[in-house]
Amino acid sequence: MQSPAELTVDLRQLVITIAHTVDLVGVDDLLHGRRVGMLAAELAKRMGWSDAERVMLYDAGLLHDCGVSSTRVHRRLVDDLEWEGAQEHCDRGFALLKDFPPLAHLAPIILYHHTRWEQFDPAMQVQDTARYANLIYLADRIDVLAAPYQADQTVLEHSSAIRERLAAERGRLFSPELVDAFLALSEEEAFWLALRPDWVQQYQAQIESFADSRTIDWAGIKQCAEIFAAIIDAKSSYTEQHSRGVARLARHLAARLGLDWASCEKIEVAGLLHDIGKLQIPDEIIEGTNPLTEHEFDLMKGHSYGTLQVLWRLQAIQDIARWAAYHHETPDGHGYPFHLRGDDLPLPARIINVADVFQAMAQDRPYRAAMAPEKILSTLQERVAAGSADADVVAALAADLQNCHRIALATGA
Ligand SMILES: [Fe+2]
Ligand SMILES: [Fe+2]
Ligand SMILES: [Fe+2]
Repeated sequence: MQSPAELTVDLRQLVITIAHTVDLVGVDDLLHGRRVGMLAAELAKRMGWSDAERVMLYDAGLLHDCGVSSTRVHRRLVDDLEWEGAQEHCDRGFALLKDFPPLAHLAPIILYHHTRWEQFDPAMQVQDTARYANLIYLADRIDVLAAPYQADQTVLEHSSAIRERLAAERGRLFSPELVDAFLALSEEEAFWLALRPDWVQQYQAQIESFADSRTIDWAGIKQCAEIFAAIIDAKSSYTEQHSRGVARLARHLAARLGLDWASCEKIEVAGLLHDIGKLQIPDEIIEGTNPLTEHEFDLMKGHSYGTLQVLWRLQAIQDIARWAAYHHETPDGHGYPFHLRGDDLPLPARIINVADVFQAMAQDRPYRAAMAPEKILSTLQERVAAGSADADVVAALAADLQNCHRIALATGA
């Protein structure tokens, strides 16, 4: 196996993978961040800003909503032009990125991307942070007003009304120069036509072709995986620390099963990433107290497949992506979504499966209280007897039960 120390991923691919992850929260409109990125880059170009600023603002647009994990919050942000609860996701997004050096420069922009232009004092208004953040704010609000007309392709019909609505915010929500640039640019039909899904994805490919790209080493990949986990776990108070608990426990079990350092490192990262696809599940299903309907269960079954799809760009970590995506596969072949069994189901995936079940049962859920470790173990042993959990992994857990329970629930790093 390739040592993690030798693994690198491309920063550009990583940024797009985070964007794809964050966009899942849109549930059935999965291009909000990418449209905002495109609008931001086009506005920056119109303002006469440099190519480097244009690419940077594209990235800021891609990631501007990284502080939104809840589908309910997402809906509020796209339903209202101004929502009094908007600042919280800006604060969250800032906190997520500020300590990750490759993306830390975007954190202040995200922090102020719902700040009204008139709220900045004059000294702040001349600073780049305020100008950039206000541009993201405008790009975001353009998309919010135009998005309802994407599905039936009637954006052009509504473009005048959108222009008037935003012109009314000149000097209030948005800087006068920005609004003027928007009004000039949006006279062109092309501005609105570019928002169609195919063209948004084509735009992404164009930006990728000239954006400079650095590589991220294993330490950076791990740090970024923690950011992914924080985004995933912020979805609901019930899932707080879930991914991080699964990751630590899976690593601990892997070490107890005698796996080498390289495997333990990768298993921990797979644990951090395993539930990426859950971001697309509406909060009401995650937090519901009734048994899932068949349709809801079908939606749930899509989440681990979603994890695999989102991670496809990160070629260097495809083994990790598969282990993450197989976390609902079971040794008897009755898991989902691939029905893997025998040698096709690798040990790291079996470990993450057990760690996932254990951690989830150790936490409160809307429909039951947290279970005691002994009770979780007996449930897992029943699963082993039925063929739906790995015997060796559960034996390793049984041999160190209290410690495993502590690790699964430990908060913080
Ligand atoms: Fe947004
Ligand atoms: Fe899951
Ligand atoms: Fe999970």
